[in-house]
Order: sequence, then C-alpha cells, then structure tokens
Amino acid sequence: MVGGSLSRWTMSYFAVAIAWLIAAEALMAAGFGFPNADLASPDTLVVVHMICIGWLSMAMCGALFQFVPVLVGKPLFAARWQLPALLLLTAGLVALLAGFMALGGYLPAWLWLLPLAAGLLVAGFTLVGASLVLTVWRARPPIGPAHFVLAGLVSLFTTAALGGAFSWALAGYGGQAFGALLESGIPLHAIAGLGGWLTLTAMGVSYRLLPMFMLSPDVGGERSCMTLFAGSATVGVAVAGGLLAIGTEAGINLVLGSAAILAFATLALYGRDVIALYRNRKRRRLELNTMMAAYGFTSLAAAALLGAVLVATGSFATHVGAFAFLVAFGWLSGLILAKLYKIVAFLTWLEAYGPAIGRAPMPRVQDLVTERRAAKWFALYFVSVWVGTVALLVHQAPAFRYAALAIAIATIGIVQELIRTRRLAYVAEPLRLPNGTRAPRLLYSRT
Ligand code: HEM
Repeated sequence: MVGGSLSRWTMSYFAVAIAWLIAAEALMAAGFGFPNADLASPDTLVVVHMICIGWLSMAMCGALFQFVPVLVGKPLFAARWQLPALLLLTAGLVALLAGFMALGGYLPAWLWLLPLAAGLLVAGFTLVGASLVLTVWRARPPIGPAHFVLAGLVSLFTTAALGGAFSWALAGYGGQAFGALLESGIPLHAIAGLGGWLTLTAMGVSYRLLPMFMLSPDVGGERSCMTLFAGSATVGVAVAGGLLAIGTEAGINLVLGSAAILAFATLALYGRDVIALYRNRKRRRLELNTMMAAYGFTSLAAAALLGAVLVATGSFATHVGAFAFLVAFGWLSGLILAKLYKIVAFLTWLEAYGPAIGRAPMPRVQDLVTERRAAKWFALYFVSVWVGTVALLVHQAPAFRYAALAIAIATIGIVQELIRTRRLAYVAEPLRLPNGTRAPRLLYSRT
C-alpha cells in the first residue's frame, strides 16, 4: 500500500458513509420500510438508497480514492475534486430521500426534487468517476484489479442513468419511454448497482487486498481476467438485453435467466480464486479483517445458493427482499466493514508514523487495534444479518426488527473500535507519539 500518498478526504467519506449506515439500520429497527411496507413503497426506497448510495457507494468511493493510485502507481488525478464530489453526493442523496418522502406523503408533493436529486448525484459520481478513470488512463496498467474498477464505474453510470430516468418519470416528465423504463427497468437498475458497481468493484479490490493482507501469491492476471470478463458479461447481458426487451416489449425473463447463469459462472470463478488465496497464504494466523471477510464471502455464496433455490422453486419474486438484504448486508456491508477495520488502522499508522519511519521506534499497524474487542461486534453483526435474512424468508417482521437492532448495536461497536484506532488509543506509551509524530484528525487526513 505504501507508494501512494494519503488521500485527504477518504476518512471523511468513511465517516459520512457510516453515519448513513447507522441511520438506515435505526430506521429498519424502528420498522420503517420493508418488510412492514411494500418493497416498492417510498419508505423502502428511502432505506434502500441510504444504504446503497449513502453507505455502500460513499464508502467505496472513499476507498477507491486511496486505492486506485496505489494500484496503478500514479497520483490521483484532480484530488481536489474529492470534497466537491462528497458535497454533491450528500446534497443529491438528501434531495432524493426528500423526493421519496414527498412521494410517500410525508412532505408536500415536491416531485421536482427527484430530477434535481438525480442531477446532483450524477454530477457527484461524474467527478468521482472522472478522477478515477483519468488516474487509470494515465498509467495504462495491464489488465487487472484497476479494470474491475473501470467496469464498476461503467455500471455506476448505468445505474445513475436509469435512476435518473425513473426520477424524471416519477416527477411526471419524460414521456412514454421513461414510463416504460420505470415500469420494467427497476431490476436492471438494481443489478447494475448492486451487481455491477458494488460487487465487481469489491471483487477487483479484494484481488489486490487479500494477497496483501494474507501474504498470498497473486492468482495471476489471466484468472482474474476471466472473472472480470464473466462479471462484465453478466451485467452487460442483463442491462443491454433488458433494455432491448423493454424497447421491443418482449418479456424480460429470458434475459434475466441468461444473466443469472453468467452470474453463477462469475461467482464460481471468483470463489475458486478466493479459496486459492486463503489456502496459499504465508501468514498462517488470519488477522480479524481477513477472518471476517471470509464471512462476507460465505454470505455471497449463501446468497447465490438462496437465489438458485428460490428460482428453482418459483418463489424468487416473493423472497427478493431477503435475497437483496443478504447481498447488501452479508456480502457487501460485511466485506466493507471487515476491510475498513484494516484500512483505517493502516492509513492511521501511515499518517501518524510515516513521517518518522527510521527515525524513532514505532508501533506496528496491529498495535493500533485490539482484535479481541472488535471480534465480538463482528460476530454479533454477521449472526444478526443471517438471523435477519431467515426472519425475512419466513415473513417474521418483528423478529427482523430485533435483528436490525442487533445489527445497529454491532455496527456502533465496530465504529467505536475504528474511532479508538484513529485516536491511537490502543498504542502503549512511550511508542504512542514519538518525536516527529502527531495524532491524526478523526475525520480527515493530513497529507
Ligand atoms: C443517481 C442515482 C440514483 C437515482 C436517481 C436513483 C433513483 C431510483 C428511483 C427513482 C427508484 C424507484 C423506482 C420506483 O420503484 O418507483 C430506485 C429504485 C432502486 N434503486 Fe436507485 N437510484 C440511484 C442510485 C442507486 C444506486 C447506486 C443503487 C445501488 C447501488 C440503487 C439501488 C436501487 C434499488 C435496489 C432500487 C429498487 C428498490 C425497491 O424496489 O425497493 N440506486 N432508484
């Protein structure tokens, strides 16, 4: 990870993301949205976008600002765009949620908020995307993790474009074409967002982070390239085929079925590589982050199995909420929380002790954390997510609320550990702040 400079606003993205996550979990625990309301209800849309944009996308953008330059060995293009992008995304999300609240009758019928929100969000994501794409473009690396990020960004723009079209249609503009998209295109928006943007990017990042944190040999460009190809084909078939089916008024099921088969192939290829990375690691004792990431991978495999069983029994539509919950909380959020635990420690170490390397005795990265304390919060998090998934499958809304409450408590526990790491609270004196070092700020990095 050394070799790139610190990204100033990555911690701010993480902080904003975590605030949205905890707010969404609190709403779920309070019984707001699905399963107490319909899946397509405005209440559910509020919670879904707090999680998908506020938490998952913000955390991913913050991580990519730090990670992509390291990956390609070039500084971030236009690093000064990070803060305006954060402000645009936050303003856009607030407007989107207000638009959904207007749809739900909590606010006057200000439906113009929806296209306004789409404009702000597209502007924010464009700044993020342009900065990352131009960073990769300047380096032109061989096919590898950076190309997963590029495929993820293409999917992000597809998601945002579809979301924008829905917003125009809901506000009463856009005519028949946007109306047809709103009627049938929501699965395409969800697949491009959760599958293309978040899952493909997380896969690419993990192809690099897992070998780094476990000291495993890389699986090789050819193998990761196959996963990238299969994953991109999955999203491409789903979105392009889906749009064609909507345009020609043909059924969309054949397209979604073909995409599902490709998705299985992608997961099989990825699963094979992840298992090889764990098996061939040189660091025999797993650190907490890689152990918890394994629960994220297990949740992904469980989601694939669940999806297959639901499709085979013809009950996918009935249980799509449980499936999406497991993908969003077990796989994506689980993996991101596990990796944040290491990334925050590493970046904090680099910021505090990097300037004094070689000039004073200093702690190791692992001295910034106390894994035993964090482990119990992670355990509570994953167990509650799995209990919550089962509660949704058996239509037990009250049990789901208890699970959501436990997830919120576990998240707060994990966040407390992140704050202690940032404050160097676990580093024993006299190593804590040797000469030439300063304690980092909580919410941004001194670069
Ligand atoms: C520019 C950004 C975005 C805008 C303007 C937007 C807008 C919308 C709108 C208007 C709907 C509701 C359609 C309806 O049922 O009436 C929707 C649904 C949905 N969006 Fe987004 N969205 C955006 C980004 C995202 C992202 C990045 C993700 C995921 C990573 C996402 C995930 C979803 C999902 C899963 C649904 C279906 C929710 C449900 O039916 O309960 N959206 N979006």
